[in-house]
Amino acid sequence: MTKKRQLKLGVMLHGAGGHMASWRHPNATIDASVNFKFYKQLLEKAEAAKLDLAFVADGLYIHEKSLPHFLNRFEPLTILSALAAVSSKIGLVGTLSTSYSEPFTVARQFASLDILSDGRAGWNAVTSPLEGSALNYGKGEHPAHGERYLIATEFLEVTKGLWDSWEDDAFIRNRETGVFFEPEKMHRLHHKGKYFSVDGPLNISRSKQGQPVIFQAGSSEPGKDLAAREADAVFTAHESIEQAVEFYRDVKARAMANGRSPDEILIFPGISPIIGKTDEEAYQKYLEIANLISIDDALNYLERYFDHFDFRQYSLDEPFPELGDIGKNSFQSTTDRIKEMAKQEHLTLREVALRVTSPKTSFIGTPEKIADLIQTWFEAGAADGFMLSGPVLPDGLTDFVEHVLPILQKRGLFRTEYESDTLRGNLGLKIPRNRYERDEVINNA
Ligand SMILES: Cc1cc2nc3c(=O)[nH]c(=O)nc-3n(C[C@H](O)[C@H](O)[C@H](O)COP(=O)(O)O)c2cc1C
Repeated sequence: MTKKRQLKLGVMLHGAGGHMASWRHPNATIDASVNFKFYKQLLEKAEAAKLDLAFVADGLYIHEKSLPHFLNRFEPLTILSALAAVSSKIGLVGTLSTSYSEPFTVARQFASLDILSDGRAGWNAVTSPLEGSALNYGKGEHPAHGERYLIATEFLEVTKGLWDSWEDDAFIRNRETGVFFEPEKMHRLHHKGKYFSVDGPLNISRSKQGQPVIFQAGSSEPGKDLAAREADAVFTAHESIEQAVEFYRDVKARAMANGRSPDEILIFPGISPIIGKTDEEAYQKYLEIANLISIDDALNYLERYFDHFDFRQYSLDEPFPELGDIGKNSFQSTTDRIKEMAKQEHLTLREVALRVTSPKTSFIGTPEKIADLIQTWFEAGAADGFMLSGPVLPDGLTDFVEHVLPILQKRGLFRTEYESDTLRGNLGLKIPRNRYERDEVINNA
């Protein structure tokens, strides 16, 4: 009998929560973004609930109008390394930019996290949307959107090549003979490409899960192409089930066109459920956080997606302005969606800013309603799993694991025990074969 397909679930660790005003909520930990104890407690809660992974996002440019969480937060690999030491099953996924890093360094960092955590590391490879990032790296112009994805493609190929530098049985470490490693099991990449020149080998071996799991979070056309070629999983965001189904089909079809099985790439829409004993209570929780936002805060939030474009030159109560290509070089898929929504629903600038800052999620209501929606999306082919966020953490996570998760477990839709102690194992992803490993090694294994 084949096992029933089950949901995969991850949680975003982003300080006091995913809303601009999370830190002001009375239940929030005021310095959550730089509070290790807070991160540890959240991770322990997620691991006790058997979630697949915890994820730490990142960006490379801030200024006075950025989200409070972005102004003062942990660098992902640093906090994830600390969290690796206090957990044993849950996956640890962090963002790192392919536009402002070097593949040799990134390969080392994630390989180290992968060994430190004994096979639980994942990398969310992003191309960095904000122009200002270039100012922090002395690299001249911020590369254009399309070029950032060309760089990312080569970056991922190089990184994966470096991760195979050592075959799994390369290190002999024989005290008597003095043989530390087998030279024929060490491999140099000799990569010379358009953007990178990397000889190798990498100075760290593979972990129990072979290579860290690759996540990709851009939903633009080149973003989907990159995911289809290189990623094991995709983070995405959709307002309706129809859009999510369309995206899911599209990415899986692109993966198949690359000769991959659709099961080799998992789609994780992000959701931010607001849970109450009644629909009314859940709605009150939404208002509690939405009411902490001024129109000025909302404009700041909206402007970031458009590379901090100044919307204050327009009247708040006129139709949302015609922006041409503004936003195309930053969060392209998000800005396209915002423009489309404004046009379709004839929204004013004020309405767009408030709606984008405090989205009225459909995942709002009683635990049964949230569980039903999750099941509907999962069974309709809109998702392989979900990335959970909460407007306020840890409350959002506590409400979910205490009230929604038991319903999903009762329906057989989510695990009650981890299947594995690696991230690939729990996600049901294969261990990638080392490209240099000869057939007889595999056959004898
Ligand atoms: C769950 C989730 C997590 C994300 N995490 C990050 C992140 O850590 N850093 C980042 O720059 N963008 C992040 N993004 C945003 C996408 O990466 C964004 O769409 C992208 O940077 C712009 O690419 P695009 O133009 O291909 O959409 C995330 C998106 C989602 C849905």
